[in-house]
Amino acid sequence: MKIKGLFLLMSAMFVGTMTMAQSADIDQRVEELLQKMTVEEKIGQMHQVSGGYQFYNDIVGGNIGSILNVVDPIEINAVQRAAVEESRLGIPLLVSRDVIHGFRTIFPIPLGMAATFNPDIVERGARVAAIEATASGIRWTFSPMLDIARDPRWGRVAEGSGEDTYLDVQMGVAMVKGYQGGDYTDPTSMAACIKHFVGYGAAEGGRDYNTTMLSERALRNIYFPPFKACVDAGALTLMTSFNDVDGIPSTGNSWLLDDILRQEWGFDGMVVTDWNSSGEMIAHGYAEDLKHATELSIRAGVDMDMMSFGFIQHTKALLDEGKITMEQLDNAVRNILKLKFRLGLFDNPYVDEGLAARVAYAKEHLDAAKQCAAESIILLQNNGILPLKDAKRLLVTGPMAHAPYEQLGTWAFDGQEEHTVTPLMALREAYDVVYEPILTYSRDNDMSNIKAAKRAAKGVDAIVVCVGEEAILSGEAHSLSNLNLQGAQSALIAEMRATGKPVVVVVIAGRPLTIERDLASCDAMLYAFHPGTMGGEAIADIIKGSTVPSGKLPMTFIRDAGQAPFYYNHPVTGRPNNGTETLLDAIPIKAGQTSLGCTSYYLDSGYGPLLPFGYGLSYTTFAYSNIKLDKSEYTEGERIIVEYDLTNTGDYDATEVAQLYVRDLVGSVVRPVKELKGFERVTLKAGETRHCRFELSVADLAYWNRDMEYVVEPGSFELWVAGDSASGEALSFSVR
Ligand code: BGC
Repeated sequence: MKIKGLFLLMSAMFVGTMTMAQSADIDQRVEELLQKMTVEEKIGQMHQVSGGYQFYNDIVGGNIGSILNVVDPIEINAVQRAAVEESRLGIPLLVSRDVIHGFRTIFPIPLGMAATFNPDIVERGARVAAIEATASGIRWTFSPMLDIARDPRWGRVAEGSGEDTYLDVQMGVAMVKGYQGGDYTDPTSMAACIKHFVGYGAAEGGRDYNTTMLSERALRNIYFPPFKACVDAGALTLMTSFNDVDGIPSTGNSWLLDDILRQEWGFDGMVVTDWNSSGEMIAHGYAEDLKHATELSIRAGVDMDMMSFGFIQHTKALLDEGKITMEQLDNAVRNILKLKFRLGLFDNPYVDEGLAARVAYAKEHLDAAKQCAAESIILLQNNGILPLKDAKRLLVTGPMAHAPYEQLGTWAFDGQEEHTVTPLMALREAYDVVYEPILTYSRDNDMSNIKAAKRAAKGVDAIVVCVGEEAILSGEAHSLSNLNLQGAQSALIAEMRATGKPVVVVVIAGRPLTIERDLASCDAMLYAFHPGTMGGEAIADIIKGSTVPSGKLPMTFIRDAGQAPFYYNHPVTGRPNNGTETLLDAIPIKAGQTSLGCTSYYLDSGYGPLLPFGYGLSYTTFAYSNIKLDKSEYTEGERIIVEYDLTNTGDYDATEVAQLYVRDLVGSVVRPVKELKGFERVTLKAGETRHCRFELSVADLAYWNRDMEYVVEPGSFELWVAGDSASGEALSFSVR
């Protein structure tokens, strides 16, 4: 059953926040302005630079269309005035910035936000970011990053929603809506930029900027959907990626930027390069020089050049030589001007210079950041010690206990550490705390002061060890091949364990680390990712028990970096796990060579990961029962209704993230072992049972098949409703 029509239908559902009349009016204003522009002025619009005042003359000369990295409203107004009041045509600048997980009020890193499985709080976070950033005059952010990431060695896993396409779709759309708001012309509306198109997260070996090996089918089934969904949700801009896809760098890839993005998806927004990604096509060996790179970029469908300076230098000559056409140039400029009109910049170019200080860190912003952080924290292990209800005196130790700068995480340029609440600060409000950091930063190996901690441990009821990664160890260009805790952090945990006191470990990090040995040396572990401004309060509330943890893993946690990449929804192999694994210790000396009966696993780390995607404990327990499908056989166009009872079987009121997974048993190409198709946060009182349901349409089972058609292939399926990707009993159904 082919469902091409579905894509068109979905596109029609989201027409953005412009009425037909508004967009016709904008089109007319764009055309009128375009008529008045010289070639040089057109080229100027396509040029984006990092900085403000220093480009004053270029701005007045109409040679710059956008700036990035200026955040002072006074400077922004000054350069905007140069554009609006001093340049010949008065075209306003687009002022941009990487506002990735908050502007002043920093929310958890996007990977942490994904762990909430709560698109509403993520949308709220993006709205808060937009309110604070636009108050400084920033109307365009380079977020959300939609790159699916299956390899925690890649530093930029911090910046996305993890390994799953469905989760990425939900989080990406939530961010686009939050940034852009209900009306683009509203001064608090900030254009989103979906990035990096495409496949950047699939860098081989997790090494940033590395090449990718992605088939068209993999792109269509796994990597495209978040971009497509955000285009449908009205994302106003898109950024190309640094990497090549099948040998063609994205910035010069007309199949991606024109055939797919514009023709197939109908994107009518603006396309910007990544930082010098046009120029980097020279290093790729794809362009001879900057002029050639510029030609390839414009021909492929790029509208604006971030920081290669190639467009401003070479476009005129390329036009004169007939290497690019006036139509290509006009199309690019149209997209840029359209964005400026859509944001209302021609009518309202300036910002109230006092506003930024008034809105930053507003109470409701901090409350939302705290809620998001609380929901992002994942309880990985608990032998019953948490919450620390009866404890009075605590030893707090570890390099992340009071690291206000580090807990903000990567891409938090504008968050100010003096506004950060650390775990130490918040725990001090609730407990009598002895603080002995022992290690001063995450890579620190100096345990010379350990005796002080051991001495202090004697007089306390429990120990909280805050470990993890400094902000700089994740993010762009910060890949790692060893994912164990850095420095002497594992040794510190072990020393604390040896005191005999209950040990709670809190990991504050930018990626899933390999924490198996640390789990073995503690009573309880909370994984907080980098939780942002309010992270300390969120962590302390969970330790105290005033908040019950509800976060779930947005990425599989592996035992050892050698297992990467590892993701739950991998294609089924010809020798799937049969429940037996012969590990190193069980292999006799001079064992005869055999492969029969063996499956796809490592002799040292076995078949499974440490913890599966979707995993996360609570202070209570949940039971799923009476899971039922409304039918056993479905046909095209039908809804699939799954009902289940969820019971809170423990003593705490709490929230569970119920997850729906589906497997297509036989396909025209090999299908994933299971795929997330739905999730819901369900809040239940202790002892309460709720009758819940998921609804899917048969069309939700479609995928790009062997003939590269988007279809639901009739056949047998399995379905699970469970608290993580590795639990639950399969139900069967079929599609005719
Ligand atoms: C990153 C982008 C970012 C840009 C502008 C690049 O290095 O890859 O994600 O938006 O810089 O700061």
